[in-house]
Amino acid sequence: MRQHVNPLSINFNQIERIPSLSEMFGDSKLNLHLDVGCAAGEFLFDLALVNTSWNYLGIEIREKLAKNARQKVIESEIKNLYFLFGNANNFLNDFHSEFIIKNLKSISLNFPDPWFKKRHYKRRVIQPEFINNLSNLLQKGTLIFIKTDVKDLFDYMDRTISENFYFKTIDKKDFNYSESFNPNKVKTNREKYVIDNQLDIFERIYIKI
Ligand SMILES: C[S@@+](CC[C@H](N)C(=O)[O-])C[C@H]1O[C@@H](n2cnc3c(N)ncnc32)[C@H](O)[C@@H]1O
Repeated sequence: MRQHVNPLSINFNQIERIPSLSEMFGDSKLNLHLDVGCAAGEFLFDLALVNTSWNYLGIEIREKLAKNARQKVIESEIKNLYFLFGNANNFLNDFHSEFIIKNLKSISLNFPDPWFKKRHYKRRVIQPEFINNLSNLLQKGTLIFIKTDVKDLFDYMDRTISENFYFKTIDKKDFNYSESFNPNKVKTNREKYVIDNQLDIFERIYIKI
């Protein structure tokens, strides 16, 4: 069982310098996807190797994971993948990230840490302020994908996003995955575990209007 990182710790108040899109990617004009809480990044490696018409950016609060993943990208010379270390909430609050957020086509939050105790809810990555920042910066049409195996967390995230006037739910059965950041429905590590253990998955897609 891993030790959870407290995102509210002052250690994460500072975010690292955010490179420009052309520093991060070989072709900065490709569609850009952000995965929040990407852990060691295996999901994004799988996506980036196959979907070369997308750029993938991961953000992870566990420094070692983010930095190892970044090193692996350099060694494997992948040009459409980059990893940032830091708290996604602070990243969104920083005006240096605005150019990234304005360029996003989609964001995924896959199996975020649930923080089960009520007094720890404020450690959850989805907060009204987080969603508010996104609604101010994202272009119309940008998609947010959420997925979790914890029903209570799903309800909390769904409520928080739906309370924001600028996000609307998309019916999954009308959604064309082939044009999305994940056309082949690649699974994250947690998702594979959840499927192997026959647990429920709760998911929803939102569009910025
Ligand atoms: C349960 S894991 C899921 C990992 C992966 N998305 C998956 O589906 O397998 C949640 C990840 O989010 C990271 N995380 C938690 N809070 C975060 C935050 N505020 N900013 C960035 N990453 C965060 C954790 O360190 C952890 O790696």
